[in-house]
Amino acid sequence: MKQIMLDRYGQPEDGLRCAEVPDLGAPGAGEVVFDVLAFPINPADISFCRGTYRLRPELPATPGAECVGRVAAIGSGVTHVKPGDLVINLQRENWTQQRRVKGDDVIAVSDGIDIQQAAMLRINPATALLLLADVVPLKPGDWIIQNVANSAVGRLVIRLARPRGVKTVNVVRRESLFGELKALGGDVCVLDGPDLAAAVKAQTREAPIRLGLDAVSGRATARLSACLADGGVVCNYGSMTGEDPVMSRSTLISGGQSLVGFILGRALGTRSLPEIRAIYADLGQQVAKGNLSAPVEMVYPIEDIKEAVAHAQRGERSGKILVGPNGPV
Ligand SMILES: NC(=O)c1ccc[n+]([C@@H]2O[C@H](COP(=O)([O-])OP(=O)(O)OC[C@H]3O[C@@H](n4cnc5c(N)ncnc54)[C@H](OP(=O)(O)O)[C@@H]3O)[C@@H](O)[C@H]2O)c1
Repeated sequence: MKQIMLDRYGQPEDGLRCAEVPDLGAPGAGEVVFDVLAFPINPADISFCRGTYRLRPELPATPGAECVGRVAAIGSGVTHVKPGDLVINLQRENWTQQRRVKGDDVIAVSDGIDIQQAAMLRINPATALLLLADVVPLKPGDWIIQNVANSAVGRLVIRLARPRGVKTVNVVRRESLFGELKALGGDVCVLDGPDLAAAVKAQTREAPIRLGLDAVSGRATARLSACLADGGVVCNYGSMTGEDPVMSRSTLISGGQSLVGFILGRALGTRSLPEIRAIYADLGQQVAKGNLSAPVEMVYPIEDIKEAVAHAQRGERSGKILVGPNGPV
């Protein structure tokens, strides 16, 4: 079977190859073997290939934080999934044609779900949900602000904030996105830049903003913080610039703001397996109904992994880059 191998850290397309490896064989007791139908190339996967992610295993290694698969076989004692079921995998190393994992690591998703959307179910929808749930208590009428608002996470934040009555200020790098983000339910859209705080004040009529979601870092963090009310919280959960977040002393000391961090693994780690399954059951239903989705720009075959990762690093994409390791999806 085919599996992606990372041979050296650095520019992702230089270090990756599509290798021929031995088949996995039958599952052992308590194990599940599934065919990988699709996986996305997320910013964290790019960072993993560069060697700048928090996990930096010995090489060669197989990247891939998420995927959707179809169960091919189950070992004795596995009762919650059966051959033919669609599943997502809580474990990594998913850039491959087939995976063998512990039964507890797979979660079944409904058969009616769109395969491309199911491939992106594990990370971004749960991240958007828990950014809204865990950082600051939010009630209907509260305002939040986020950068990378057109990213998959940003769009999901808009969709999940709306039914909670939480209003969103959406910061992006180009005005052409305003229409689609407003159609998703975004309340205010603004361009990032030195005048961000003044533009936001004008559009929100100076409503206090309690939470800023930052995945850009560098000076962009300070620009979001300048839009927050005294006592507001900036939550840094990514770094599209590759820089560390910067905040001014005056917002921290005089404004009483705080800067906190978020990573999905830690947020899920505070929850039991039944709670985690319940989160994905709910998100899976919302994805299957079409309430939650992320646009897709292109799906590549696994042999074209170098082209796929190069494409995933381009700015101004209209959506995610996916790979279909066992044929088109
Ligand atoms: N902490 C966690 O647990 C967690 C979980 C999931 C995701 N994340 C983070 O969330 C962020 C979004 O992920 P995603 O999968 O939703 O992304 P995505 O759909 O691939 O979109 C990437 C976004 O980053 C923007 N961008 C790229 N380079 C940039 C730069 N130099 N400055 C400002 N913006 C830039 C793009 O804007 P343009 O369209 O203008 O190019 C786009 O909005 C990433 O930082 C990711 O690592 C964190």
